[in-house]
Amino acid sequence: MVCSCISGMGKYLPDYILTNDGLAEIVETSDDWIRERTGIRERRISHGEATWQMALKAARDCVADWQGNPQDIDFVIVTTLTPDYYTPNTASAIAAELGCDHAFGFDLSAACTGFVYALDVADSYIKAGKANHVLIVSVENMTRILDFTDRTTCVLFGDGAGAAILSACEDGNNRGVISSYLALDGGRRSVLTVPATVCHEKMPWEETVADTNGHHAVMMDGTEVFRFSIGAITEAVDKALERAGLTIDDIAWFIPHQANIRIIQHFAHRYHLDMEKIFTNIDKYGNTSSASIPICLKEMKEQGKIQKGQLGLIVGFGGGLSYGAAVIEF
Ligand code: COA
Repeated sequence: MVCSCISGMGKYLPDYILTNDGLAEIVETSDDWIRERTGIRERRISHGEATWQMALKAARDCVADWQGNPQDIDFVIVTTLTPDYYTPNTASAIAAELGCDHAFGFDLSAACTGFVYALDVADSYIKAGKANHVLIVSVENMTRILDFTDRTTCVLFGDGAGAAILSACEDGNNRGVISSYLALDGGRRSVLTVPATVCHEKMPWEETVADTNGHHAVMMDGTEVFRFSIGAITEAVDKALERAGLTIDDIAWFIPHQANIRIIQHFAHRYHLDMEKIFTNIDKYGNTSSASIPICLKEMKEQGKIQKGQLGLIVGFGGGLSYGAAVIEF
């Protein structure tokens, strides 16, 4: 049976660092408050870089790690909630600039769960025999959609991109993506929103740019999102493990979406996990939405943490309210 294995990983983080003390000069907050409530110390800010440009840098890093030919990539998925254009999609820019001349592709919108959703789509295409090498790029220019007068949201997010290539491989060498579970709680979607430019409160001819500007920022009921995240993680982790026929003790590494260290600590407590088994980098980058999990995967590889044959569990949750998890053999 054909499996889909992660054959390359990449990341890109902008150089510009905004520390908590730096944020405290912009909005009424403090390093102590942010660290205690979120675990974040600093975040990266894209300085004039478009979303597709950050995505391309992560994609190039990923292709270098893969050591393959971009001509052999047959499917490009970009996950982002901060595209530069409604159309063309970001995937078309990545495919063209990388030289994926035979690829089709699209952007996938599932907020912070984007990478988990994309992994499942890529895995399904490979197992159906419709693709051999799928490039996933998860990229977020979050600081472009933050209201820097709203201290309850602007301290949480940062910019960055992560990428992975999934390749068809024969069972026996590596099981790759072993199981996945995706879910959506649309009934609660209003607790985390970023309105688009198309605003339906007025007739289109009554609307001006001034009317809609300022409404494109992240708006969030933090307490409700926190509560949702706790339940979503448990459901997704339990279902992904059940589908894999595994238990929590079989997993060497847990890679949760980096939203808040307290959510991650709650997860560790719930499953009696040593924090050493959970990879975190939220202190350096904040919440980079869908980019957070692939950035973690790349950093784990760079730090020599991943051993071939080990099992990892990724779990994501966010706007939608979307959530999901997957079990992977490295
Ligand atoms: N700096 C200083 N004080 C702040 C602050 C900031 N950046 N943001 C909020 N506060 C204040 C509040 O105004 C409030 O003050 P009050 O008691 O005088 O009214 C106090 O801190 C407590 O606010 P509260 O909202 O109860 O804090 P919290 O412990 O719930 O933490 C979040 C807030 C946003 C960090 C937390 O709810 C959270 O992480 N939610 C999940 C968010 C998330 O992960 N979203 C993305 C999901 S993908």
